[in-house]
Order: sequence, then structure tokens, then C-alpha cells
Amino acid sequence: MCGIVGYVGHKEAAPILLKGLHQLEYRGYDSAGVALTGEGLSSISVFKAKGKVANLEEKVNAALGKSGQMLTTGIGHTRWATHGEPSEVNAHPHLSMSGDLALVHNGIIENYQLLKEQLSGHGYEFKSETDTEVLVQLIDYFYQKNGKNLAKAVSQALNKVIGAYAIVVMERNDPGHLVAARKASPLVIGIGEENSEFFIGSDASPLVEYTHKVVYLEDEQIADIRMGEDVEIMNLDETSADLNIKDVDFDISALSKGGYPHFMLKEIFEQPHCIKNSMRGRIIQHENGLYEIKLSALTNFKAKLIRARHVIIVACGTSWHAGLIGKQLIEEMCRISVDVEYASEFRYRKPVIDKDDVVIAISQSGETADTLAAIQLAKEQGALIFGIVNSVGSSIARESDTGIYIHVGPEIGVASTKAFTGQVTVLTMLSLAIANAIGSMGEEEFQRTCEELVRIPQKMEKVLGQNETIERMSNKFTYAKNFLYLGRGYNYPVALEGALKLKEISYIHAEGYPAAEMKHGPIALVDEEMPIVCIATHHHLYHKIISNMQEVKSRKGRILAIVTEGDEEVKAIAEDVIEVPATQNCLVPLLSVLPMQMLAYHVAVKKGLNVDMPRNLAKSVTVE
Ligand code: M6R
Repeated sequence: MCGIVGYVGHKEAAPILLKGLHQLEYRGYDSAGVALTGEGLSSISVFKAKGKVANLEEKVNAALGKSGQMLTTGIGHTRWATHGEPSEVNAHPHLSMSGDLALVHNGIIENYQLLKEQLSGHGYEFKSETDTEVLVQLIDYFYQKNGKNLAKAVSQALNKVIGAYAIVVMERNDPGHLVAARKASPLVIGIGEENSEFFIGSDASPLVEYTHKVVYLEDEQIADIRMGEDVEIMNLDETSADLNIKDVDFDISALSKGGYPHFMLKEIFEQPHCIKNSMRGRIIQHENGLYEIKLSALTNFKAKLIRARHVIIVACGTSWHAGLIGKQLIEEMCRISVDVEYASEFRYRKPVIDKDDVVIAISQSGETADTLAAIQLAKEQGALIFGIVNSVGSSIARESDTGIYIHVGPEIGVASTKAFTGQVTVLTMLSLAIANAIGSMGEEEFQRTCEELVRIPQKMEKVLGQNETIERMSNKFTYAKNFLYLGRGYNYPVALEGALKLKEISYIHAEGYPAAEMKHGPIALVDEEMPIVCIATHHHLYHKIISNMQEVKSRKGRILAIVTEGDEEVKAIAEDVIEVPATQNCLVPLLSVLPMQMLAYHVAVKKGLNVDMPRNLAKSVTVE
């Protein structure tokens, strides 16, 4: 949820930290802060501001512009509040009472109340309402007792802590030194040329401009980072661990808006290109024109994957909606039964998991705390964990036994768009590959579906071409307080996704329903004020959804329909119509979801809202 950055080296730390915080702002944006120090200074300077990183930047630039000091070590944080309201006093970094230490933290310290009472007994006083301030005082307590050995103090303190954390700590007496640690919250360390400088981030995005050599800290590991020396990794019990340096490959242009007014719009328009990337090297057309799907995950774990009789998909939010489509794909093509579970519920039930089951975790960020906990639970029970993840090297990717990256590039807009179509593309390829391997799908149908999947990016372009029409349409709906989204079959999860998109960025209440369920309750809501988005593309239930639309129309609901190109029947019923090219039923979500995304985007923009950073949300939900 929160974003963490750190720098130690020979350059001015503040510009590097502030730039990094801007890049991580999608993770949290209710307040931000930095702590800085440098050689020959006797204190740590802390700057904090409520709201966006830009507010902090103004403050820091105004103060440092005058000082002329060289501050080459620092830590920074952009916050998504858990304990204590968004305010300067609750913003990170937090200083220990002695002023010796400053700390930034992402996560939740569950036993902070108890620790706070114990520390109060030792004379510690607290300024904020945060669990984080308790943690810095606890580290300080051990630091003062053990002769100011910071790495040791961090390990002593973390051994007392229950909860999740990614932390970076700096000390007044030793500029040029940082200590970082993690448990259930991501942290990446970037290594500069010959250890001359180090960069820390909640993800790799703030580091890649400077280095491609990174260390993904593992759970319950502590990194001792000192300028000019190798990073030392140790476990919580202070035994040493291996330093695993990886090469990170990251397209830095993905971090800018590329001429679009918002990341969300850019990401919507990137989708044809993104899903081509998801398919690249995986759907192969041979010289004889026949298609083959090659997934390394299927090569390595073929026996287990094709033997599975039960698949459980765990995910949250948009990824859960992609999972619902995955269920239909796998059941239809492979005839294997699939359950789709909210990871947050699954982890706290006693789910029945067989060692022959395959658990598919779907996550854009690869860091969602509930999804991570769900796969850890399934792993303990012997299931094969299959990750469908975007963020390379993320916790879920690393925790999975195998999997497929969706390769859609960094998604910055809080509302997930290209990750959804990337996830559905990967689920389609996986279903096709398994169906082909076990023979549950005829060769002709397999070839036809592959051929059609490869054409989807081109068809997506046609849907995106209606952006201006959708923008005009959206003008009429800014008044709405409620929306209904209806779909059937493969379009039911798309209806849920459309409703979620609208809710999260336009703050309009919206519900997605399977269209036939309307008459079991929601129809009571329909009146002339109620916009109803009906996804009515051609498939075997087409005439049934037309009947559902008639039911809505006779109650004066305002229908906006998504139809297959050339459809005339729905035009006679609906107030507005958006066309999508004809395709196979199982591939329709890849097209029908685009108008949902564009509609939500334009309604939110017309309402003057910040679509990339909607209130109360964070891009990656690393707390439960
Ligand atoms: O990173 P993940 O895919 O695991 O995230 C899951 C949800 O938090 C995410 O999809 C969320 O619902 C989005 N804001 C939806 O647009």
C-alpha cells in the first residue's frame, strides 16, 4: 500500500528520493515525507507534507535550496493510512525519541499497543497515533542497549513484532548506512556501480533508472547496506543469508503518461499491444499455418497440470473477475472443475485442498497480501501453485511453483485495465494448451480459437476507435447516483468489472448482475433515473438477454447496450449502443470490457475526479 524509497551514495539524496516517491505515489497518496542526513551533520532532517508528493517536494526544495548542505543519505515514504488519520504528524519517516534513528514502514504492526505500553514503561513518549512510531522506538530501545549496532537492534526489535513490514532505517551517527528488512511486504534493493551507491524501493520502478542489478529481499531477512561495501543479508536470528543479485528488465517509458492526460487512458489504449506481448512466443503459427501454444509452465509441470481434476483460483478485485472468466474457460475447454475464491475469504476458511489440486493465483502486483497468504496456505497442503502475475519478481511470482507472467508492462493507474485483458489472455492460452494436451477440445476448434485469439488485438483497436463516441455518451450519465451492469455467461464477469471500474474512479454506486437475476430483486431499483449497461453480444443466450432488456425498458430504465457489430435488434430497445466486432463467445470479454473501461474513465473525468489516484484506494494492497 505505502511506497518506500531509500538512497545512500555520493549524490544528493533528496531529488532521487522525491522522484522515486512520485513513481511510487500510486501505492498511497495521503501524505509523504523524507528524512535526510549527510557526512558531518549531527542530526537527521525530516520533512513531511499532507497530500500528494508534490506538496512535499515544494517544502523540501524550499528548505534545501537555502541550506547548501550535501545530504547524501535518505529515506522516503508515501502513505496510505492504516493507523491514524492522514496528517503530517502521522506521516513517515518517524524519528525515535532520541533523534538517533528515522524509519519508514509499509505494513501493520499488530501488537503495537502492547509494545507501546512496554516502551512507555521505559520512558518513551509518542507523538503520533501510528504503529510505525512504536517500531522506531522499539528499535531505538535495543540500539541504545546494544552499543548502537543498528542491524542487531533491528533484528532484536523485529523478533518482538507480530505483523507485516517492509522497513528502512537510517541513523544519525552513521550517514552512509541503511538497514532494511521485510516480512510480507515487498522491498527491492538496487546496487550501483561497485557498491558506490544503493537505491531502495517498494518495487523496482524507482531504481531502474539507476541500476538493473537488484536484490529482492526475502521474508524475515534484514539487509545491512553500507556505501562501498557488499550488502550483507541476514535472517531474523542474525545468521547470514546469501546475497542473490538479479538483473531486472524494465521499460522505463512505461512510467510516463506518453502524451495521455492520465495513466488509465494510456493503459486502456495500450491493450492491443499489451496482449500481443502476452501472446508473444507463446502462440506460434507454423509454416503449414497451424497454431501451437507453448507455455514453459506447461512443459515443466505438464504431468501435474493435466492430471488435475480440480482447480482453485484465488484473487482479489479485478483479478478475481478475470478468475471468473478463467473458470468458464477451463471448465468449457478442459472439462476440469474450477472454484473461484476471494483470497481474503479463502485464507481464513478451512478450504478443502487436495495435493493433486492446482491453485491459480491471479495478481497484477504480485503483492496482494490476501492472495499471497492464500497461496501459502494452499502450498502447505501440497497443491501446485500456479501464478498469473504481471510484476516480475514479485512475492506471488516467487512463491508460486510455476506460472505465466502476463507481460503487459507496469500498470500505474489504480483502476486495473490492461492487467485484466492480459490475465484473460493468459487464462485463455492456458485453457487452450491444457485442452489440447488432454484432448478435451477437437483440433479444429483449437486451431479456430487460436487463430481468433491472435486477431483480438486488431479487433480491440476497432473498439478503442469509439472512444470519442463513448466520451460524448458519458456526458449524460454524470448525474447518476446508481448504475446497474448486466451480462450473461462470459459477459457476467465483465458486468462485475464494469461496475467496479465505475465505483472506484467515479464514486457512483454500481452493481453487476447476471442479467436473469434481475427479476429476483434488483429490478425493483429500475426507474427512469437508472442507467443500465447491458452487455448483449451474440451468443447462445442473446435472445434471453434481449428479454431481460425488454423487462428493464418497460420500467423506463435507460439502457446503454454493448452489442455485436451490425446488431439491429438491440438498437430498437436501447438508448445508446456501442458495437464490438464479432468474435468467438469465449473471447468476447477481451472486447466487451473495453467500453466498460472507457465509460468509467470518461464519467470520472467529466466529474472532475482524479482517475489515476481515486480516494481511499491504493494500487497494491499489501495489508489485509
Ligand atoms: O494486484 P492485484 O491484481 O492482486 O490487485 C487486486 C485488486 O486490489 C485490484 O484488482 C483492485 O481491485 C483494482 N483497483 C481494480 O481496478
